Amino acid sequence: MKILIYGGSFDPAHKGHFELLKAAFSQIKPDSAYVFTAYQSPFKRKSPVSFETRRQMAAETLREISPKIIFDDFENKVKRIVYAREHINYARKLHPNAKIYLLVGTDCLNDIPKWKNPKYIFDNAVIVAGSRKGFEFTEKTFDFILLKGSFPEICSTQIRFDIFCNGTIPSNIPARTADLIRKKQLYGLNIHKWLCANLKPKRYEHTKFVAREALKFAQIYKADVDAAIIAALLHDAGKSMNAGGLIKYSLKHKIKVNNFKDICKRAPALLHGAVSAHIARILFKVKDGNILSAIKKHTLGAADMNDLEKILFIADMTSQDRLYNEVAFARAQAMKSLDLGLSAAMARKLIFTIETGKWLAPDGLKSWNTLISKNK
Ligand SMILES: [Fe+2]
Ligand SMILES: [Fe+2]
Repeated sequence: MKILIYGGSFDPAHKGHFELLKAAFSQIKPDSAYVFTAYQSPFKRKSPVSFETRRQMAAETLREISPKIIFDDFENKVKRIVYAREHINYARKLHPNAKIYLLVGTDCLNDIPKWKNPKYIFDNAVIVAGSRKGFEFTEKTFDFILLKGSFPEICSTQIRFDIFCNGTIPSNIPARTADLIRKKQLYGLNIHKWLCANLKPKRYEHTKFVAREALKFAQIYKADVDAAIIAALLHDAGKSMNAGGLIKYSLKHKIKVNNFKDICKRAPALLHGAVSAHIARILFKVKDGNILSAIKKHTLGAADMNDLEKILFIADMTSQDRLYNEVAFARAQAMKSLDLGLSAAMARKLIFTIETGKWLAPDGLKSWNTLISKNK
């Protein structure tokens, strides 16, 4: 008897998972296969998408390969990080005389000797690997079966970011899984739905550009990528209102803004940072204080800004839809450091305000003065 084991986060499940398992079925011909959805991957942070939803995505994506697949909920029962040796042990107990095959991508292959208890893994299972472009096996220190064929270079993390930033589901997600993602409004689709309905098309496009820019800087400067994208998506949510609407909303919800009266009189659009943060908290249940403060501070900055706040401020000024003369300089500065990027972005914002004859808010000036005092 042959038992195949395949584990993954399936966050989301995609055609790469499908192709790999399909090839393993046709070449290994197992009598049964256990697909283990990770409660929490040993290599990734815990997903905000529930175990059950990810298991459902795995089932929607993979079930047509064979009726012999069991979408196991073992990890949800123990509710902790589960290692490959435990999957093998689990299958071994259920099928004491079976030959067990552990399916992995070649991206994992090099690391198996560093996994927990590799000797147990090698003694109790045959490793089956699918070759994935871009991940070469460097050193053959153990035996494994290499599946025929090459498997698509698809990465769940990239798919997640694509959906989050663009609000659309890429074609490498099978249709049934895409339907589930849409139905459950995963990966920020709920935010996109609201933005699309409430912002003008140009503002919505700008928001998506800022999300991609914030993602880029969060990756470069090792900030919380998900937080950066959420902050970017919601930073201009308040722009769904005109000046009168912003003032009314701020009064109704008792939103605290420095120099409120002056701002209402001279530049009410500046209220949209604080209003957007309020919308993020109330409508989208954003609890992360860093996200909320980044949204609030993206209009005027602040004396002390953390990395996420700087990233959003810069991304809003350097996104690909920005066409002002010095944008290339601001982008180049931001690639050198967040502080240089912040200086360039803030300077440009102030110059723009002066050039267009608008009122300079005291908090904006204060942010600038603090920044240049620090940089010297
Ligand atoms: Fe804004
Ligand atoms: Fe913006």
